[in-house]
Amino acid sequence: MERRTLLLCGLLALTGCGSGAGAARRPGVGSARTGDRVAGLADVPVGSGALVDLPGDGLLLVVRSADGVRAFNPACPHRGTVVNPPAAGVITCPTHKSTFDPDSGAVLTGPSPKGLVEVPVRVSGEDVVLA
Ligand code: FES
Repeated sequence: MERRTLLLCGLLALTGCGSGAGAARRPGVGSARTGDRVAGLADVPVGSGALVDLPGDGLLLVVRSADGVRAFNPACPHRGTVVNPPAAGVITCPTHKSTFDPDSGAVLTGPSPKGLVEVPVRVSGEDVVLA
């Protein structure tokens, strides 16, 4: 191993880079399991939504309407950008501005070729949990 490579490895070890420390959340359920708490109902008022960290390393978009609570993998099907929670009645991808229906995840305007992937959740008491 070259001296330069050794120095870089040492720096990475000291900073935690490359070791998983401070790793970014990944869109989807990650290592969460059925029954794991996703959010409190109070965290997602009716007519709104929120990006929530799951146990492990997952990230979901939870949306609440008068009809109930839904969750979606927030990765935009176009290129994978994490979409924004709903605003003014639509979910928008910040990269190329695809829009999605917050009630179904269906694509409203492209370039995304399809809608968001729904993740089954249910209400348990005052919490939203993975179904
Ligand atoms: S990554 Fe979302 S529209 Fe392109």
